[in-house]
Amino acid sequence: MDRDDVPYLDATLPTAHRVADLLGRMTLPEKVGQMMQLDSREDLDDHVLRKHVGSILHTSPERVLRAQDLTTQTRLRIPLLIAEDCIHGHSFYEGATIFPTQLGMAATWDPQLVEQVARVTAVEAAATGVHWTFSPVLCIARDLRWGRVDETFGEDPVLIGELAAAMVRGYQGDGLKDDTAILATAKHFAGYSETQGGRDASEADLSRRKLRSWFLPPFERVAKEGCATFMLGYQTTDGVPITVNSWLLDEVLRGEWGYRGTLITDWDNVGRMVWEQKLQPDYAHAAAAAVKAGNDMIMTTPQFFEGALQAVEDGLLAESDLDRAVTRILTLKFDLGLFENPRRPDAERQRVMINHDDHVALNLEVARRSLVLLRNDGVLPFAKGKIAVVGPLADEAQTQLGDWAGSSGQADWLPTGHPREMITTVLDGLRELSSQEVTYARGADILTLEPDPEGDTFPDGQPRPKIVQPCPPDANLIAEAVAAAEDADYVVAVVGDQIELVGEGRSTATLDLIGGQIALLDALAETGKPLIVVLLASKPLVLPASARNAAALLWVANPGMQGGRAIAEVLHGLVEPSGRLPISFAAHAGQQPTYYNQIRGQHGSRYADLTQEPAFAFGEGLSYTTVEYGDLHVETAVLRPDETVRASITLTNTGSRPSRETVQVYVSDAVTSVSWADKELKTFRQVDVEPGETVQVDLELPVSACTIVDAAGNRVVEPGEFVLLVGPSSKDLRRAEFTVKPQF
Ligand code: NOJ
Repeated sequence: MDRDDVPYLDATLPTAHRVADLLGRMTLPEKVGQMMQLDSREDLDDHVLRKHVGSILHTSPERVLRAQDLTTQTRLRIPLLIAEDCIHGHSFYEGATIFPTQLGMAATWDPQLVEQVARVTAVEAAATGVHWTFSPVLCIARDLRWGRVDETFGEDPVLIGELAAAMVRGYQGDGLKDDTAILATAKHFAGYSETQGGRDASEADLSRRKLRSWFLPPFERVAKEGCATFMLGYQTTDGVPITVNSWLLDEVLRGEWGYRGTLITDWDNVGRMVWEQKLQPDYAHAAAAAVKAGNDMIMTTPQFFEGALQAVEDGLLAESDLDRAVTRILTLKFDLGLFENPRRPDAERQRVMINHDDHVALNLEVARRSLVLLRNDGVLPFAKGKIAVVGPLADEAQTQLGDWAGSSGQADWLPTGHPREMITTVLDGLRELSSQEVTYARGADILTLEPDPEGDTFPDGQPRPKIVQPCPPDANLIAEAVAAAEDADYVVAVVGDQIELVGEGRSTATLDLIGGQIALLDALAETGKPLIVVLLASKPLVLPASARNAAALLWVANPGMQGGRAIAEVLHGLVEPSGRLPISFAAHAGQQPTYYNQIRGQHGSRYADLTQEPAFAFGEGLSYTTVEYGDLHVETAVLRPDETVRASITLTNTGSRPSRETVQVYVSDAVTSVSWADKELKTFRQVDVEPGETVQVDLELPVSACTIVDAAGNRVVEPGEFVLLVGPSSKDLRRAEFTVKPQF
């Protein structure tokens, strides 16, 4: 094709002009294909040459090259969008930097750090030809049984919104023209995590008011941040799949928020309306419904191709109905400059940037900051003395990385995961950093797998997870671990969960440490040796007394490649523990949910047999020092809705080690027109306090943030009495009152 005669190839023309020209040249099948994203592990030639797909995902390095070569054989040579789940690092690129999971990152409470993680991920992913990541996750994690808690930023909408916005900034860099920028995706819009019983992707029975109150605000935050794409969740709400929920998509997202970005379905959302939810009689009707509802890109529903063509033939869709979506996708491609530079994999950039020393250093810092010390009777940091490292997760490199990383199941080109030598396990870390002797015993096994009698695959061909069978305690393994403990001065027990208990379709009915782990901990506790439990668990688990009463307890989520080193550093006191819980730990699975911002009002405040208090509450986390919070002062106690609450509090480090405090600011609205949470996080600040030092922390909170959602669904400030609550966690707060006057 001669560029001079073809306006859409002329980079000097405005994008709208180029899009219109290209759209005018496209056939109906080419338009349908442009709306499709298919799995590149399948028949790539067919996807590109016959179905004219606009995008592919799950693409091994070889297949990225092959796919781009194939596009040069197509009539219009429209570049592909290469998409991948780069969730906590460039997950499926061998040797890329794998960071702590999102839940681990959330424990840092540090948007700037999280922004850097996303920037590094984008730099590494872009060098390999990836243009689009399906991250961040903005789901609110309330039911700990859900298998995808690890992918979230926890339970609080403000924390989620701040961290997600930071990630979006990091991924999208200086704008889409920057060739290290990748498209971010806010997912899963909206309410996906709220399915019943923690069952994955079932009905989420959420009122519109509840969505507006807690589930939508983080999405609105990133829409304003310019997040280029939104992914629509799997679930139905009020009987309607999100993919065709016109209230959510048209009224709220496109209408009220004015969102102009691109919408992508989740995996086979369109097909599932036919074969699973049984809401559409066939693919023609499903395709028509999806297009009319405003979806732009249809993920992995191969039948969408024939379905949409049929829908046009049957008059269910007009060809022009497709133009809106195709225009949006082409605009993205022009905005990324892909027609001029398809951003192919760049071997030299990969050599320099993948796992660059700075990325390794950042990863270590994030891992350190993600660790949450939940208990310490003074045993930590270690003094001298022999250390016995025990537990089934002490030396499990790939498990430490968590889901969406290497061998976690989504990428068949990385069957054994990331290179072992890039990962520091807890055992590695302690061996490396300890001057004293370190011994090791596994102590317990966790699980075995059995085939599901319902078959190896679901009706759509996707693999069905195998069934977990907890291993019984093994007396020999326990005896070895006890012997190691008795011969040491400290025991570090590394226990938790592993990939078969984590992820899509892998929710858990219990929250227990399974297999031989509880018996192991009980036996270790019996030895009377100081027991340090390192809980390497993707999500909060319910802990036995032997762990809850251990000398020390450290929760490390899935801490990524540098996790073992970071843990060893904290245990040895080379760095201070500073993580704070982004999510509450239940004391019993039957207490679910235990999130802190529950609606006030119920009969009593406990179960007959158990408290409702979580084992550890949102915001909790210890340092190696003690920091005292002084009185809270509000500068002006009576304000108008357009004013800002200004307050201050003093923090005094009364111990002998430095501390990084996360000063958490909550608000309680004394009387509300509708039932509401008793307190909600509104903002937070991190402050370093040296031993003996007293610092004054000034806080500002616009009154306009002190809202509720009223009965009509409007977010409003209701004048009246409020309480400002400031402290180190959601359950340890100083109080000061203020009054909001009506605005005249
Ligand atoms: C399904 C998951 O729900 C979503 O989070 C992911 O991005 C897509 N699959 C693509 O892998």
